Amino acid sequence: MSKGELEATARALVPSGGGILAADESMGTITKRFADIGLEPTAESRRAYREMLFTTPDLSDFVSGVILYEETLKTAANGGVPFPRLLADRGMIPGVKADAGLVSLAGFPGEQITEGLDGLRARLEAYRERGARFAKWRAAIAIGDGIPTRGCIHANAHALARYAARCQEVGLVPIVEPEVLMDGVHTIERCEEVTERVLRSVFSELGEHRVNLEGTLLKASMVLSGVDCPAQAGVEEVAEATVRCLRRTVPASIPGVVFLSGGQSPELSTLHLNAMNRIGGSPWELSYSYGRALQDPARAAWNGQAANVAAAQKVFYHRASCNSAARDGRYVPEMEGIAA
Ligand code: 13P
Repeated sequence: MSKGELEATARALVPSGGGILAADESMGTITKRFADIGLEPTAESRRAYREMLFTTPDLSDFVSGVILYEETLKTAANGGVPFPRLLADRGMIPGVKADAGLVSLAGFPGEQITEGLDGLRARLEAYRERGARFAKWRAAIAIGDGIPTRGCIHANAHALARYAARCQEVGLVPIVEPEVLMDGVHTIERCEEVTERVLRSVFSELGEHRVNLEGTLLKASMVLSGVDCPAQAGVEEVAEATVRCLRRTVPASIPGVVFLSGGQSPELSTLHLNAMNRIGGSPWELSYSYGRALQDPARAAWNGQAANVAAAQKVFYHRASCNSAARDGRYVPEMEGIAA
């Protein structure tokens, strides 16, 4: 892919009214999600679940791209069409989770590093061959007593930059995801301070590694109160702190910032995204790349039953439509009632 194509793909992932579906749960994560509905995790149940999501009628009205787990990238839907082609035929850009998951960072108790750089080039080439046009790498930064350390932030930012440069070398748009985790008792002010440090470090490393920012997307966590903080910041406060933090740290050359939901409820994720877009005047598109916040209600409605597919797709379409409205600052809570 040329530089121009890379940049066009990055922009195509964040169109007005559109966002990204993160459906790249690892084996461990999808097993947990299925356990919630009492479903056995098999190759067939995972295929059926992903097919239910991806074949939702008119999903591309709201979803511009889908992040797949490697297994799904290599799987065909029931009719024999490989999932990446099924998505592309339906007007959605296929992408893939390219990292190999989290491990503890040696010497830094309570902190983690993301693995997957060894052999990455060959894997990325194979992903592209199978139809992927973008990739994602997630770093996780925890907030707690004395953490995050400078060492952990730097190690993760460095890995993200090396991954991003590799992606662009083989013609994939890198989504760079430094997630600041919401677990903990910390205040929103502390989350803002940490997020600011993390983003500064990430963009410094991306610069060092000659990453083309016009052909890169940032997947960011919102600036939130820790889940166990007694004082929970309201929607407007979250929106203002998040946008302020991004403006201080994210270059205007990035075409878009897409948010993860990180454990927030579906409705709150939508409200926060909407409030950020209402602020206006940001140099980048502000959209979504939700996993749980898009999928949870649909998965519950599906409940592993073929007979529930149409009903679950309705629920999924509705959630995507609300986020699509929020992505342009057009969401009002009354929209929730209409679909039900
Ligand atoms: P959540 O929206 O469930 O946090 O998932 C997004 C994601 O892809 C995390 O890497």
